[in-house]
Amino acid sequence: VSGILVLVSVGFWYWCHSSTGAILPPYPYPYRWLLNHPDKCRERTPFLVLLVVSSPADLAARDAVRRTWGDESAVPGLSVLRLFLLGLHPVFGAELRSVLREEDELYGDLIQQDFLDTYNNLTLKTLMGLEWVSRFCPNATYVVKADHDVFLNLEFLWRLLRPVRTDLATGYVYRHTGPLRNRAYKWFVPREVYPNDTYPPYCGGPAYVLSGPLALRVFAVAQLLPVINMEDAFVGICLHALGVPVTDPPAGAFNMYRLDYDKCRFSRLVMVHHYWPRDLLRVWPHFRNESVKCP
Ligand SMILES: *[C@@H]1O[C@H](CO)[C@@H](O)[C@H](O)[C@H]1NC(C)=O
Ligand SMILES: *[C@@H]1O[C@H](CO)[C@@H](O)[C@H](O)[C@H]1NC(C)=O
Ligand SMILES: *[C@@H]1O[C@H](CO)[C@@H](O)[C@H](O)[C@H]1NC(C)=O
Ligand SMILES: *[C@@H]1O[C@H](CO)[C@@H](O)[C@H](O)[C@H]1NC(C)=O
Repeated sequence: VSGILVLVSVGFWYWCHSSTGAILPPYPYPYRWLLNHPDKCRERTPFLVLLVVSSPADLAARDAVRRTWGDESAVPGLSVLRLFLLGLHPVFGAELRSVLREEDELYGDLIQQDFLDTYNNLTLKTLMGLEWVSRFCPNATYVVKADHDVFLNLEFLWRLLRPVRTDLATGYVYRHTGPLRNRAYKWFVPREVYPNDTYPPYCGGPAYVLSGPLALRVFAVAQLLPVINMEDAFVGICLHALGVPVTDPPAGAFNMYRLDYDKCRFSRLVMVHHYWPRDLLRVWPHFRNESVKCP
């Protein structure tokens, strides 16, 4: 009987650890920098550090972002510093090494650490971006975390960010949501990882903004909290721990659903989700065309 008990408890232990082990990113952990630009902020202090989530193999998406909203000189007078956040490709990590190095030599905008680039490790990517700001660009005025599949209007965002605040966290605000407990979901969060039934208010992952000094505090408190696999909810948990509330943007500024492109509408919003490289390259010339006027 005791043999069976031991087997059952070992099995249960294994089941618990294998299920959370696949989901919980190891953190804090001394991840190594594979690509880095520690000197970027020596020459200038950017108003906006743009941290763009990207997968190692997705060169086309990075290219589209560089040529559209991620173009550092797109908005005259606005100092933007763009970086793409990368982990290690889970299969072709070694093969992509020289490709990424070459791309980085050309553009100087890739940062990469040696964690596996997987969906459940997205929180590590955000934390890598915040670590970079904390260590190498602590005087940045604001930090924007964005996914590559969004349309972003930094000119409009710039207007919302003045006068400058030191404790702003904004984006599309989710309230009264909680972890999904069903293993079948991509967004499954086990009770052992996060026991509460609700998340504190947080800004949706496709694009959110933190004041520079607040980004440093979020990174610092993240070292003390158990990390969860939902990166946006985790930033909300950090803000909750800091006692900093999220701020609602003007209605309609951050759109979690795709909207059809319309120049006049898009001039008065910050973000539209689900704009792919092809869409971005198609609408951008029109969006930036000074001769196309809005009434
Ligand atoms: C996250 O990255 C770490 C370090 O590379 C790896 O051990 C772990 O398996 C990854 N987690 C997932 C869910 O991919
Ligand atoms: C940040 O600003 C402080 C105070 O103005 C200055 O001493 C420091 O050198 C700056 N750091 C960087 C990395 O620019
Ligand atoms: C989780 O619930 C406890 C008990 O209600 C509460 O004190 C704590 O602030 C909650 N944590 C978060 C991150 O919401
Ligand atoms: C800008 O719009 C004008 C008027 O619609 C058009 O004639 C011109 O070709 C456009 N320029 C570019 C660069 O798309």
